[in-house]
Amino acid sequence: MLFHSAKEMILAVLLLLLQINRADAALVGLPGCLTTCGNITIPYPFGIGKGCYFEGFNLTCDFASQPPKLFFGDGTIEVIEIYLTESMMRLRSTLLTALPSEEKELVIGLPPQPSFALVLNQSVLTAVGCNIITNILGDIGPVAACMPLCPVNKTGHTCSGIVCSQASARVQIGGPFTIRISPLKLNGSNSFYDAITNTALLVEQEWLDKHVIELLKFLNPFSNHQQREPMIVPFVLDWSITHDGTKGCLEAKENVSVYQCLSANHVCSDALFNGYRCKCKPGYEGNAYVTNGCEDIDECQHPDIYPCHGICINFPGTYQCKCPKGKHGNAVAGQCISNWATRASFLIGVATTFSIALLILVLTVLLCKLKKRNEKLLRKKHFLQNRGLLLQQLLCFNDDVAGRMKIFSIEELDMATNKFDQTRLLGRGGHGEVYKGILSDKRVVAIKKSWIIVKREID
Ligand SMILES: *[C@@H]1O[C@H](CO)[C@@H](O)[C@H](O)[C@H]1NC(C)=O
Ligand SMILES: *[C@@H]1O[C@H](CO)[C@@H](O)[C@H](O)[C@H]1NC(C)=O
Ligand SMILES: *[C@@H]1O[C@H](CO)[C@@H](O)[C@H](O)[C@H]1NC(C)=O
Ligand SMILES: *[C@@H]1O[C@H](CO)[C@@H](O)[C@H](O)[C@H]1NC(C)=O
Ligand SMILES: *[C@@H]1O[C@H](CO)[C@@H](O)[C@H](O)[C@H]1NC(C)=O
Ligand SMILES: *[C@@H]1O[C@H](CO)[C@@H](O)[C@H](O)[C@H]1NC(C)=O
Repeated sequence: MLFHSAKEMILAVLLLLLQINRADAALVGLPGCLTTCGNITIPYPFGIGKGCYFEGFNLTCDFASQPPKLFFGDGTIEVIEIYLTESMMRLRSTLLTALPSEEKELVIGLPPQPSFALVLNQSVLTAVGCNIITNILGDIGPVAACMPLCPVNKTGHTCSGIVCSQASARVQIGGPFTIRISPLKLNGSNSFYDAITNTALLVEQEWLDKHVIELLKFLNPFSNHQQREPMIVPFVLDWSITHDGTKGCLEAKENVSVYQCLSANHVCSDALFNGYRCKCKPGYEGNAYVTNGCEDIDECQHPDIYPCHGICINFPGTYQCKCPKGKHGNAVAGQCISNWATRASFLIGVATTFSIALLILVLTVLLCKLKKRNEKLLRKKHFLQNRGLLLQQLLCFNDDVAGRMKIFSIEELDMATNKFDQTRLLGRGGHGEVYKGILSDKRVVAIKKSWIIVKREID
């Protein structure tokens, strides 16, 4: 490894140490047991050597090969990877080859039940050849079949089905199973196909989708198989724990002495068929099959997965991401806003609303006053126009008239007629209306309200 500076090297060493610490921290296998073979991690219930595995999950590591190889079952099945949380394992497929009209079988030596439930899922049986039938034979009989046919016609050959693949139903495999190639006795078979080699193997569906051309090149029935470079083709198995055919979690929990989800903070889930699986609760990581195997994830140490742009506080099974003091908002999304800014904007908002309301109120009052003033001025004008002053003077100077006459203000008239109520209306004339009025001294009078001003009459 090349480092540009001493600082970089120290950093790399520190990172390495951190990684080692993390591996130590998360329990993978039982204490004192080997947990790796080459670059493959071996989590309990799998294990190597006595006392390191749950019944049936024993593996062997061939340290002699470079890199070391891990084996499962009867010791012939190579393990590529083991997935703990997904309860899955990826194994290396063995190729079964057969010459035309030759019947051949290959036993995949999975461990026998009953501690184990294996489900053939996400894998397909793939066959390349002509006029053969290939089968997967479980303990209950054939579970998948594939029949590549190469029909002939009178003038020559058409090769319609040299390759076929067939998804096996999701089946529980009760221990070892067999892959078989049998020739089909068809009329018209031609010697043209006598030179080919028929092949069959189990392939992981997802892998096949990506590597189909590569695989067909490898399985080319017209090439010499002995000269081929070996190719690593995977198939997958789902695994779960069962005790003498335990159905699922509920049944397994009934007998504490056999229940294998030993860690606190675990969740148990039923397998597709028999058996159950253990996982750590969300917020925990590690191995739920081992005592104290599930450990709290310190989310604050992994901002790449659990982003926090504020103050991160780890709690068992979860974490809290808060904005720093004096700020609030969504700290996870990095949207912390100062409390002062919000308060200020709140105050500005309140003040603005209040000011507008006040302005409207003042304007209304002013308008009202203005209207009243105008009305008063208008009345005064009308009073003058209607020779009101003259009338007033007349009253002032003539005591006789003053005793019998009075000038009423509009307020007094309003009161007397109940604001010129329509029920007080006595009649309508050409110039106005006549209302019945009751004065403050209970005298009943007629009040005329004119609506047109006839200038000529005034003059
Ligand atoms: C182990 O190493 C091989 C090659 O060195 C690589 O193809 C494979 O993916 C590695 N497996 C794991 C689990 O890292
Ligand atoms: C696991 O144990 C069984 C029985 O003891 C043995 O037959 C088998 O070979 C072992 N498997 C591996 C991979 O070591
Ligand atoms: C028979 O084979 C010949 C030669 O390959 C081909 O041209 C013809 O289409 C085939 N006929 C049928 C019915 O498949
Ligand atoms: C196969 O060929 C034989 C003889 O040529 C004939 O008797 C038989 O009926 C044929 N079978 C089929 C399925 O075509
Ligand atoms: C629990 O399982 C053990 C081992 O299989 C068995 O010996 C025991 O009888 C079981 N106990 C109960 C209560 O079923
Ligand atoms: C089988 O495969 C499907 C799709 O890949 C997956 O969703 C399902 O969980 C698998 N079944 C089991 C029992 O693992």
